[in-house]
Amino acid sequence: MTDLHIAPELTTETEHLSQKNHEKKKVVIFSQVFPEFEEKLRQDFDVIKINPKLGDVNQQIREAVTNAHGMIGAGRLLGKEQLKTAQHLEIVSSVSVGYDNYDVDYLKSRQIQLAHTPHVLTETTADTAFALLMSAARRIPELDQWTRQGQWQHTVSAGQFGMDIHGKTLGIIGLGHIGSAIARRGYYGFNMNIKYHGRREKLETAQQFQAEYLSLEELLTSSDFIVVAVDLNAQTKHLLGQAEFALMKSTSVLVNISRGAVIDEEALIEALQNQQIFGAGLDVFAQEPLQSSKLFELNNVVVTPHIGSATEATRYAMNKLAYENLVLALNGQKPKYSVV
Ligand code: NDP
Ligand code: DGY
Repeated sequence: MTDLHIAPELTTETEHLSQKNHEKKKVVIFSQVFPEFEEKLRQDFDVIKINPKLGDVNQQIREAVTNAHGMIGAGRLLGKEQLKTAQHLEIVSSVSVGYDNYDVDYLKSRQIQLAHTPHVLTETTADTAFALLMSAARRIPELDQWTRQGQWQHTVSAGQFGMDIHGKTLGIIGLGHIGSAIARRGYYGFNMNIKYHGRREKLETAQQFQAEYLSLEELLTSSDFIVVAVDLNAQTKHLLGQAEFALMKSTSVLVNISRGAVIDEEALIEALQNQQIFGAGLDVFAQEPLQSSKLFELNNVVVTPHIGSATEATRYAMNKLAYENLVLALNGQKPKYSVV
């Protein structure tokens, strides 16, 4: 299958690996990939691109995967329904760290590898979490609108005041990579007291921020800011609902950059409508793309369209890593970051 000659002028591991294919393998691009990496893929593989403008995406995927060896992309449900026709599929390379949209058990049962892109998006996503936290606390979008509308005739009234951030208690649910990067911002940048909840204590990480491990209930009752940074799995689905919002301080701000399904969105809308909590900053939603929602009617919520990692530099790094994972797997090597 492969020629072991390695051209000396080629520098990176994946560059020389990708040159080794004699018979071109087939790769399906199932969502947008940066042109540079699409071009590289086209040099070494037969590429089929899924195009939503051409109709039923699942049908296109079922047809395209029949003879495909690899897939690359993000943001689509991929499981038995889409992949059952695949005969030679070796790898699905996701341009994301989250992989809740893939049927991992099915991929395992078919011995199809799944790769993802951790680390390279950690800091950018933590920036987004903090942007949402600050925007919701200081009512930035609401006051931006107010200013643009020419309503600034007097100074803002007490009803428009925001919440202090510095020195407050920041509760992080899920002290993983992104959760830790958020904790670091809060601790060093804003002199905040850091609390966290997770499946287990993380002493080494926690020590960097003097972070205290709490039960979910303790964290909800004692935090001024609560940031959700868990992955979506069977245990985290609807981790926060009516009962949990009832525990939170009326002055608290909730931020979710993880996945929409971690929160019971209807219950959150009620809590925001009733001003049971001060506000929320949300990057992820139960249904995406979110085109209409009762959330849009509320002033005490800041919404962004799942842009946690959406900077040019970070999306480039994610595309590069996903490309590398794919090429490594298609050349019989271990991807840099495998889920399955
Ligand atoms: P990590 O795996 O490093 O962190 C996930 C954390 O969630 C871990 O600390 C994990 O705990 C914790 N966790 C998992 N299950 C539970 C549970 N039942 N109760 C409490 N804690 C739990 O992943 P990342 O930090 O890199 O990413 C986290 C998630 O953020 C991604 O999976 C993705 O869904 C989302 N994300 C969203 C982005 C956006 O654009 N909005 C961008 C990037 C990521 P443990 O250490 O015990 O495993
Ligand atoms: C991720 O990487 O999981 C982000 O949500 C971007 O899709």
